[in-house]
Amino acid sequence: MGRYQYRYVCIRLIFCMILFGCNSENDSITKEPPPPKATTVPLPEAMYIQNGCISCHGPEGNGRGTRTHLLRETRIPNFQDRTTYLNGSSKESIANSIKNGIPGTYMKAYSHMRKNEIDALAEYILKMQKNNR
Ligand code: HEC
Repeated sequence: MGRYQYRYVCIRLIFCMILFGCNSENDSITKEPPPPKATTVPLPEAMYIQNGCISCHGPEGNGRGTRTHLLRETRIPNFQDRTTYLNGSSKESIANSIKNGIPGTYMKAYSHMRKNEIDALAEYILKMQKNNR
């Protein structure tokens, strides 16, 4: 290969690299995988606060919240003590109480919540129980 021919090939090669280099860059943009679907992972503690559970049931679940002076005339469970639950202290029973509420009491139905949110809250309350099985 002659000296000039070699240079010519080199220039063509560089030209091609620029041309296809740009192209492949564009390709990598269009071929990027789609972003993952957004999912909401309920944060139990945040839910307990944001939905007002904390104001009636208290940060520790013992019924000593900021609103409990208004509930003086009512029975309020102590989530730490399994013997104080009227509707059952298992995860399923707790979830049921949250979903359907306790009719005729201050405990309203949180039926607008999704199942995974209710389950997360039920698990959170379950962890408050001191006299665990
Ligand atoms: C306005 C006050 C109030 C709010 C807000 C509230 N609760 Fe209650 N909750 C009560 C009262 C009062 C009871 C007891 C009702 C009864 O049986 O007399 C109760 C009962 C319960 C029970 C059933 C306990 C048992 O005795 O079996 C669960 C579980 C519960 N609440 C969870 C929650 C969760 C979780 C939230 C928030 C999403 C919440 N509560 C919000 C007042 C409240």
